[in-house]
Amino acid sequence: MPPHFLDGTELSRDELLALIDRAAAMKAHPLDARPLAGRSVALVFERPSTRTRLSFEAGVFELGGHPIVLRSGELQLSRGESLRDTALVLARHVAAIGIRTGPHADVVELAEHSAVPVINMLTADHHPVQVLADLLTLREAFGRVEGLKIAYVGDGNNVARSLAVVGALGGVEVAGAAPAGDPLEAGRPATLTDDPAEAVAGAHAIYADVWVSMGDEDTADRRRADLAPYRIDDALLDRAAPGAIALHCLPAHPGEEITAEVLYGSRQRIWDEAENRRHAQKALLELLVAG
Ligand code: CP
Ligand code: NVA
Repeated sequence: MPPHFLDGTELSRDELLALIDRAAAMKAHPLDARPLAGRSVALVFERPSTRTRLSFEAGVFELGGHPIVLRSGELQLSRGESLRDTALVLARHVAAIGIRTGPHADVVELAEHSAVPVINMLTADHHPVQVLADLLTLREAFGRVEGLKIAYVGDGNNVARSLAVVGALGGVEVAGAAPAGDPLEAGRPATLTDDPAEAVAGAHAIYADVWVSMGDEDTADRRRADLAPYRIDDALLDRAAPGAIALHCLPAHPGEEITAEVLYGSRQRIWDEAENRRHAQKALLELLVAG
């Protein structure tokens, strides 16, 4: 079985922290490592993407490789070919496969049949590559990862779950603030409250994501109503630790889950975080493909 990266728990804490260190080194010297020279990487998108596509496509190129972006509808998968057969064929041509889709079970099934590493580029349940970039951004801001506290404020979604899982793996305390009954509980943050002020106390970073994820559009109105008290603004940042930063995986909806003042203000590291997707994923690709 090749190594895969499906929910992040495939790595030990030491491997995760070494990967973040490696990502920082790659950011400083972007073209020094070429583990994908002469090799291709398939990037399968069954859901839209701006950052994930850009960062993987540019990152594979910087590693010396050739990215092959495949959108849903372009593959025979859309006409009923199985995930198993798709995996068997993809692995004959590429060094690794990235996939973004809804059902997490589909990514697991693809990995089961793939002779090359499979990377989860987002499912409805997990978004672990996002958290690699988040940890790199924390390392840049605070000089370390372990021992920090992040407060995730908002909808209990794929990003919240991966932050709880991969954050904890990296030694970060992840607190959650969400309306009572929110599925954030399933993401197992270290602490969970319905009071944003309580969650952000002592936090080094406050983290936002959209209130309406891909696939949740039919419950958008209810989510916006329930989550209205969970907007990240300057007043909430003031209640966090001194020097606290704002993070957001993006895409943002200014005025909804985050104010424009925070999104474009001096306390955010959100646009660095978006860039860090490329550096963190390059370190992941190197680890999975070159060992
Ligand atoms: N954060 C993130 O994954 O963005 P995209 O949906 O644009 O890829
Ligand atoms: N939770 C969001 C993340 C987008 C990158 C979604 O799944 O749509």
